[in-house]
Amino acid sequence: MISATPSVFDASLARSGDAGIDAFVDRHAPDIDYTYYGAGKVALRDGLDGLVEPDENVLVPAYLSPAVVEPFRELGLEPRFYAIEETLAPDFADLEARIDDDTVAVMSVNYFGFPQPGLEQLMSLTDEYGCYHIDDNAHGPISVADGTLLGTHGDLGFTTLRKLLPVPDGAVLYRVADEVKTQYAPSPLAGSADRIAAADCRFVTTSAAETALGPLYQSIESMLDGADDPSSVDPGARYEATKASMSKLTAMVTDAADPDAIRTARRENYRTWQQVLADREDITMFYERLPEGISPYEFPVRARDPDAFLTALHDCGVVGAHTWPILRQSVFEADDYDTATRLSQEVVTLPVHQGIEPAAIEAAADRLQR
Ligand SMILES: Cc1ncc(COP(=O)(O)O)c(C=O)c1O
Repeated sequence: MISATPSVFDASLARSGDAGIDAFVDRHAPDIDYTYYGAGKVALRDGLDGLVEPDENVLVPAYLSPAVVEPFRELGLEPRFYAIEETLAPDFADLEARIDDDTVAVMSVNYFGFPQPGLEQLMSLTDEYGCYHIDDNAHGPISVADGTLLGTHGDLGFTTLRKLLPVPDGAVLYRVADEVKTQYAPSPLAGSADRIAAADCRFVTTSAAETALGPLYQSIESMLDGADDPSSVDPGARYEATKASMSKLTAMVTDAADPDAIRTARRENYRTWQQVLADREDITMFYERLPEGISPYEFPVRARDPDAFLTALHDCGVVGAHTWPILRQSVFEADDYDTATRLSQEVVTLPVHQGIEPAAIEAAADRLQR
């Protein structure tokens, strides 16, 4: 079975030399300030809090998970969605038309662990209009592009450890610009818990159940979760539920993780998907190139018939594939965002995490061929 996420029982947690996320960040972004949080959204709120006034607005891409704008709303800011291109670059004409005197920040997203296409143009635009640039790097905690740790391109940024490691929560807020560093006042949710909590034990038990039960566990989970049903997503409730410090379990795993080994494993799995799916005419790969330093979150493709492709994958044991993201209702219903809407229906992401052996991908692809 190829699951969506790695397990706490994976070998890539064994410490080898100067490992751990702290050491990785210190090595690749020595001049920034950073703080751990339970969730990226809370990190984002704390990072912006001292920089903004109610009734200002923030521009974010329409191609985004629904709860990500909740921290802006909590700060009294209006989230404004800008349209995107098929390449996931911003539609710059649309973006610029939405900027006004009250625009305080523009957010870019490093989708799937790859750098935001059009990043340089976006950065010159935020310079020109004098607004902050937020570098949303939820997907790529250990991706480094041309020597820069993703998430640290903007004035402030954040990343989500849950997307990389087998942990229940965890995020990092990066403060890059001097003004962001000086204005930062951490809320009580900053930092990590100093004790193991009941939720940590539950997470480990669940991870064990997942390892033992395999596909059966995934089916039970998705039945209980209603994960594929857009109406089951309540962005406000989802945001409120993440309001806790980073757990002790995450802190321990973060400290024990071996980022270089994890990145190597993810890259190998990415390349394996690339090879085994190369001849399929019903899908198009999103990124043909896997530049040095990139740690992919997933292997995204555009599928001609996403439901059929997902069913075929599932029947071959790839239970961790899914379309991404479920869009916010207001985006989904608006004509302005037809590219984001189409992509949210056609983009299927396949898991590449460090808990998967390339041989398992090859075996799944063999079954898929038949
Ligand atoms: C692009 C993007 N940004 C931000 C977030 C929010 O991160 P977190 O769940 O850590 O709050 C997510 C989460 O799914 C995401 O996909």
